[in-house]
Amino acid sequence: MCPQTNFDTPFGLSSESRVNVDLGPRSYPIHIGTGLLERAPELIKEILGDRRCLIVTDTTVQHFYGTKAHDIFTRAGLTKDDLLVMPTGEQTKNFSYLSFVLDNLFMKSIDRRTVLVALGGGVIGDLTGFVAAIALRGLDFVQIPTTLLSQVDSAVGGKTGINSPRGKNLIGAFHQPRLVIVDVDTLKTLPTREVKSGYAEVVKYGLLGNASFFRWLEKNGPHITAGKIARQEIQVQAIRTACAMKAFYVTEDEKDLGKRALLNLGHTFAHAFETLTNYDGSILHGEAVAMGLVKAFQLSHRLGFCPPADVERVVTHLKAMGLPTSLSGRGWPVEHLITTMFNDKKVMDGELTFVLVRGIGEAFVENKIATVDVRAVLEMP
Ligand code: NAD
Ligand code: GLY
Repeated sequence: MCPQTNFDTPFGLSSESRVNVDLGPRSYPIHIGTGLLERAPELIKEILGDRRCLIVTDTTVQHFYGTKAHDIFTRAGLTKDDLLVMPTGEQTKNFSYLSFVLDNLFMKSIDRRTVLVALGGGVIGDLTGFVAAIALRGLDFVQIPTTLLSQVDSAVGGKTGINSPRGKNLIGAFHQPRLVIVDVDTLKTLPTREVKSGYAEVVKYGLLGNASFFRWLEKNGPHITAGKIARQEIQVQAIRTACAMKAFYVTEDEKDLGKRALLNLGHTFAHAFETLTNYDGSILHGEAVAMGLVKAFQLSHRLGFCPPADVERVVTHLKAMGLPTSLSGRGWPVEHLITTMFNDKKVMDGELTFVLVRGIGEAFVENKIATVDVRAVLEMP
């Protein structure tokens, strides 16, 4: 059973929390709280001892936190001239930048004890994690995610990689971090649109396996996405719940051969939407996920699994949180979306895998979905 938290009974909100990902000798903690960037060297030393750390970040995060982090690590004796700043954006997850990072590491004479620290969103986390997986046949790495999306999803679970010209995330490796440090203070500088995009991934956890979490989010969602005036103890609670659920599925199915697929609720649709925009920034990943969640619920309803009231509730909440829920006006040809879905890496033996729901909090995987049903929901407004 997935960990459920009964959000209907009062619970103590806390400004700090910890979740464990139990993978035997590769287990690791996720620390969630405020002021954790300052404490990162201490948390790293607890697990890894005094080791040289090399921080990888992007230009935007560098501006807000890169120099600060580098100073903190240097004062703690963990870094010297060890900060690598990559261009901001999805295009950094490619072969050229992979090779650029590797080259720089070798120029800086890293050795097998060097620890890579990914400071940034999912792009930096995925790229740095992949570098850690392949440099010198494997280095330890630490995730310090600074977007809501990376704090609840990409920094946890060990999926690392880059994009191929033929598709997103097609090249990569499973390589678990040794530690994840989520400092919710970093969310204060994240643009509202990015916070809301990450929020779609938070909602996903409620919808796939925790109805009481979804009910709690219906009430508390606005406190999570309110930027500088967000309630941090509520952010910590939401991230803790999301990470605990992700940790559960990763522990059960680390290599994504079974149950972990449930984490992809809404994603078969979402990836097709993103592909059609060519990742031009017109929709963010979480925005595509929000629309994908609606389509997954509509498809589940069409196939007789999900009551219409649940579809309505999902649409109402996502809309209230300022997320897109409809495809109308996007101009994405339905046939093109369907072809794109069949090129997705979730296709097995020529069949599309969909995560469907029996209602809010009850997801399951279904392989044999007729194209006619997918087309019908894509044609819905
Ligand atoms: P991102 O890394 O591009 O970050 C989004 C933007 O926010 C960037 O412009 C970045 O510079 C900026 N930013 C980051 N932190 C900031 C902060 N605290 N303040 C101000 N600006 C900040 O995007 P993302 O949404 O974090 O991640 C998307 C990537 O994650 C995609 O490549 C996706 O494929 C990947 N992903 C991976 C997994 C996984 O399991 N590995 C899961 C989901 C998504
Ligand atoms: N983001 C889905 C997974 O990690 O499996």
